[in-house]
Amino acid sequence: MIGTALHRPHVLIARAVFPEAVARLGEHFEVETNADDTEWAPQELSRRLRGKTGLLATSVERVDAALLDANPQLRAVCLMTVGYNNVDVPACTARGVLASNAPGVLTETTADLGFALMMATARRMAEAERFLRSGLWTKWRYDLLTGSDVHGATLGILGMGRVGQAIARRGALGFGMKVIYHNRSRLSAADEAPLGARYVDKVTLLRESDHLVLVVPYSAASHHAIGAAELALMKPRATLTNVARGGIVDDAALAAALRDRRIAAAGLDVYENEPAVHPALLELPNVVLLPHIGSASEATRRAMVGCAADNLIAALTGAAPPTPINPEVLQGKRWQSGV
Ligand code: DGY
Repeated sequence: MIGTALHRPHVLIARAVFPEAVARLGEHFEVETNADDTEWAPQELSRRLRGKTGLLATSVERVDAALLDANPQLRAVCLMTVGYNNVDVPACTARGVLASNAPGVLTETTADLGFALMMATARRMAEAERFLRSGLWTKWRYDLLTGSDVHGATLGILGMGRVGQAIARRGALGFGMKVIYHNRSRLSAADEAPLGARYVDKVTLLRESDHLVLVVPYSAASHHAIGAAELALMKPRATLTNVARGGIVDDAALAAALRDRRIAAAGLDVYENEPAVHPALLELPNVVLLPHIGSASEATRRAMVGCAADNLIAALTGAAPPTPINPEVLQGKRWQSGV
């Protein structure tokens, strides 16, 4: 929809993004940006949304009933992330606001990082690098920084969606790992077969995994899915890797388990109160800590914002958004009016 400024929809891009995405949206809309990438407080986000029919956001900005009620003109909320636990989807649907996320485009990149983090954790790579940089490496030794094998070990996956399956493929086909998993629903036999994946209950998953990787979406149901009781079921030599969301793991309980060596090590890309990291985790040698970079390859980040832009342009120009979260809204007409 190319027209005069008066008739073009106004949209807000809540965070800094690649300039090409801003330019592309500028072909269709009057665009307000956040070039210096300030994390706006909820009131500020709400204030900047006045008069805007579209919002391009990330998994950080909270989109709740209060924000929607303060901005009844809003028609579309398009996230460049796959996770959308920051969006109250029922509240959007009730108000005829289309919500979309960016599934698919980050699957392989996030699986790469998840697998790499699991390996770094099992083989103590961050600890080894710190050891070397501190000048402590003076000789070869038979037990220097010995970790546990990844190849041939049992890979446990909690949450067997796109990313879970991509990690399972890497483990089964690249490293000869035995794959077990637990998920809300079981994969079809045709999807399980190439991975040799075995569906198990959660207790079996915790008991049998050598390397447990969490890839489950965050929701009230998955809050603290891994706490003290679950960690107590794991093998003392096991590792835990979380590339899903903070809040799935009880970080205080994990720090205690790592400190007491109830499990061997953990690799974390996400945290309960990120960007703050539980202070007890920062003190421990046996945890690899990354700053939420699961999807952070340049190509993938471009694809993620591209997907959000596709959704926003479609939603506000009357076309079908490619990856809606609440497609039922598309049955109505209210969201299509654009201006
Ligand atoms: C997502 O897409 O939800 C990621 O966590 C952001 O990197």
